[in-house]
Amino acid sequence: MGIGIQWTDAETTITFSELIASLTYALDMTEGQPPGHCLRSCLIGMSVGREMGLGPEELWNLYYSILLKDAGCSSNAARLFELYGSDDRSTKNDFKTVDTDSVLQVANFVFSHTGLGKPLQEKFRRILNLAMNGEELARELFSARCERGANIAIELGFNERVAEAVRCLDEHWNGQGRPRGLIGNEIPLASQIALMAQVADVFSYGGEGLRSMTEVRKRRGSWFDPKVVSAFESVASRDDFWKEIEADGLERRVLELEPEGFSILADSESLDSVARAFGKIIDAKSPYTFGHSQRVGDYTMNVAKRMGFAPERCIWVRRGGFLHDLGKLGVSNAILDKPGKLDPEEYEAVKKHAQYTEEILCRIAPFRTLAAVSGAHHERLDGLGYPRGIAAPEICIETRIITVADIFDALTEERPYRKAMSFEEAFSILDGLKDKAVDRDCLDVFRSIARELPG
Ligand SMILES: [Fe+2]
Ligand SMILES: [Fe+2]
Repeated sequence: MGIGIQWTDAETTITFSELIASLTYALDMTEGQPPGHCLRSCLIGMSVGREMGLGPEELWNLYYSILLKDAGCSSNAARLFELYGSDDRSTKNDFKTVDTDSVLQVANFVFSHTGLGKPLQEKFRRILNLAMNGEELARELFSARCERGANIAIELGFNERVAEAVRCLDEHWNGQGRPRGLIGNEIPLASQIALMAQVADVFSYGGEGLRSMTEVRKRRGSWFDPKVVSAFESVASRDDFWKEIEADGLERRVLELEPEGFSILADSESLDSVARAFGKIIDAKSPYTFGHSQRVGDYTMNVAKRMGFAPERCIWVRRGGFLHDLGKLGVSNAILDKPGKLDPEEYEAVKKHAQYTEEILCRIAPFRTLAAVSGAHHERLDGLGYPRGIAAPEICIETRIITVADIFDALTEERPYRKAMSFEEAFSILDGLKDKAVDRDCLDVFRSIARELPG
């Protein structure tokens, strides 16, 4: 059996804003945006909020509304792939630059992003579907994203104002936005600023501050309240505004922007709720993984408990279970939901998720030790796993528990290429993997727990 990893609760001194800010990198990945998109949007939006004279409480709501604006992003990725038949991440990325009030731009986007690499007949079938049902489909996509994002905000303990701002992110000043078609001041100011900050950032990539200004101005009175655009114009025309947005130390500068007196430390409870909520964001990405992270986390904790881990260590390792597939947010649904066998290139892309999990968690102090534990869930005792190909002596007991829980849950759930297996079938496969991929003691304990599960 592998030895337990050294860990300490002292790692947990981090502010809540730092925790959320670090995890926005995972949201950027799902949206196909370059790293730091949410953080830069936060810098831009907070400058606008200050310029408009918002008070500390409104600024605090705005701050988290922007950081969480993409919390629901994974929930429409599978549907997006199903509709367009193309990589959801590049489709999402490119859509952020489309002015949806322009029929020409929307038509051009649909034509250039639908059924890429697919036979012409399929491409036209998809385009026809989008043309005939476009409005309804768009509302469905935005609604899934907005509702999910709002629910995540509530689950993280934010107030209804932050949740409502996330829910209304894609509403436009002229009533042409989605999903509700709210008009003017019916839209929370935080949503208006967040959407404008998003547009401003997306068009500023590569030092294009001027282009960004032009695109925001183009949407004055259509997407955005003219007053909000004026506030943006006055901050964005200041010398060095764009240089400051792009300067090093992005994360630190975002953390400094949290209104004074509002900052709180992330305690054990908030680490749990954040890990659980991000598990849900991961699971929402594919219809085949509904509840997966949640269950892996819970199984992991139950096995750890039965193995005699101290209560705090059980809670700690459960977070590792919730977050083990975090890196899947960076993998396209064209691959994750592919019904057939993956080709070698696609398989390599899927394998990357374990490394991404480790990379994202490594940025966050309380999850730093957990990063190695979770990132190794596809390693095997015989050294034939990934990403590193490490073998038994280097695989800790916590990882071994997550691995058994992960394989069991994957086998007993439906996948795009096969039906869900019964418990007996799953255990017969796990038995075959004993001492090769899975730890025998962990498997024994898991089996005794599984007997108590509804099979
Ligand atoms: Fe995985
Ligand atoms: Fe998994």
